[in-house]
Amino acid sequence: MTTRIIPVDPFDLVIFGATGDLAARKLLPALFHRDRDGQIPDRARIVGCARSDLDDEGFRDLARAALEEHVDAEYRTGDALDRFLARLHYISIDVFGDKGWSPLRALLSEPEEARIRVFYLSVGPSLFGPIADALKTHGLADEARLVVEKPIGHDGDSAKELNDRIGAVFDESRVYRIDHYLGKETVQNLIALRFANALFEPLWNAKHIESVRITVAETLGVEDRASYYDKAGAMRDMVQNHLLQLLCLTAMEPPHHFEADALRDEKLKVLRALRPLSGTEALKASVRGQYAGYPEEAENPASTTETYVALKAEIGTWRWAGTPFYLRTGKKLRSRLSEIVVLFRQTPHQIFDDLATPVAPNSLVIRLQPDEAITLSITTKDPGPGGFRMRETPLDMSFTGKDEEGFRMPDAYERLVMDVVRGNQTLFMRRDEVAAAWAWIDPIMDAWREGGGKPEEYDRGSEGPMSAMELMIRDGRRWRSLAP
Ligand code: BG6
Repeated sequence: MTTRIIPVDPFDLVIFGATGDLAARKLLPALFHRDRDGQIPDRARIVGCARSDLDDEGFRDLARAALEEHVDAEYRTGDALDRFLARLHYISIDVFGDKGWSPLRALLSEPEEARIRVFYLSVGPSLFGPIADALKTHGLADEARLVVEKPIGHDGDSAKELNDRIGAVFDESRVYRIDHYLGKETVQNLIALRFANALFEPLWNAKHIESVRITVAETLGVEDRASYYDKAGAMRDMVQNHLLQLLCLTAMEPPHHFEADALRDEKLKVLRALRPLSGTEALKASVRGQYAGYPEEAENPASTTETYVALKAEIGTWRWAGTPFYLRTGKKLRSRLSEIVVLFRQTPHQIFDDLATPVAPNSLVIRLQPDEAITLSITTKDPGPGGFRMRETPLDMSFTGKDEEGFRMPDAYERLVMDVVRGNQTLFMRRDEVAAAWAWIDPIMDAWREGGGKPEEYDRGSEGPMSAMELMIRDGRRWRSLAP
């Protein structure tokens, strides 16, 4: 395996919310690795902005602690850490007032040469509008790019409002809506698998695929994010974005080119073709669960926030009519496992009808985590005498290079942040995609609200609520076990 590092042009990356959790866990480690790999040019700067009263040195101390916690020691060797920390600057800023804006402006206008300017909003969505406005007022927004994190709003209306407000300052070509699932290596591998091989396309339809099952299971609970999570829940936190994006990449038509709008046009068509679910139909096709003890953790004894969702989605197109897409995601489950399982149909006629166990249908498993892999399971003959026995043989198609010396699987944020600097929007959500995703989700959540009731409690460390199993059993199917 060869890695190719393509250096980017000099940039200033300004992170709002720089003292927060995402910066510590993801952004700073991602930037550190890109710097260590030699992708970041010498003149690039990373400017932290937040409310706390810190100076450059104080921020560097915070960043050092974060990197020591979140980057393996084997990568923090030599002067890599100090060189990276020297790129960091800090400005204490008041988003709603005047404090900090003149120093930020002065710092950004220091270099004489033109450079790429990126504002990364690693803050809650309620601050997106005020920060965009302030950037405009202070003359910083021209030509700059804006990165925003999900969730974009809590429903279609609020997303529109947010996007309008951002859009008044930054035109769509400069807005980068992050869905970090699109930055995962295996997700991009799915695109390669589907569109760089002639093998799969003829089979990639309802005639040959009996169902698609998308699972994102976590063992973690809400940890210290309850104040955000209790208002969001699994549907807004995971399904509206990550799971629907995975569904889109699995289901979309081949784009005419691997280019931002061509790809996003195709994803949009999938979202718009999702068969609407509302009222009793939505209640029948969806399950929400809550792990035992969640309300106490969230310090909200009456909380009806779902920490688990299972859904049966159908795509109304010629390609997919008759192939359900089952989605499930939850916290505090039995294991951490994210995968897309494409299950092919059984052979049209079984010639091996006297076998003890019937021949299993083929399946393609695209595993995002923990160990990224793509496996095609095929049926082969068990070697040797003793009758004609069959077995399932997994074909490993991932070739990730994991076993090669020095190979490190990059985190999703590494690619995505560098893509922003490169001006490549392919792996970012366009405004109309966000709207279309909400348009499908909103009526389901309305049905939950109107139908009353509460999420079904499930045991911590389990496979999820019983109703999620029943959702499949009703259709004569079963989820794959979450056993590690
Ligand atoms: C985030 C969600 O977007 O994704 C979290 O807000 C979730 O609740 C996380 O835990 C999962 O990401 P990953 O990359 O660990 O699967």
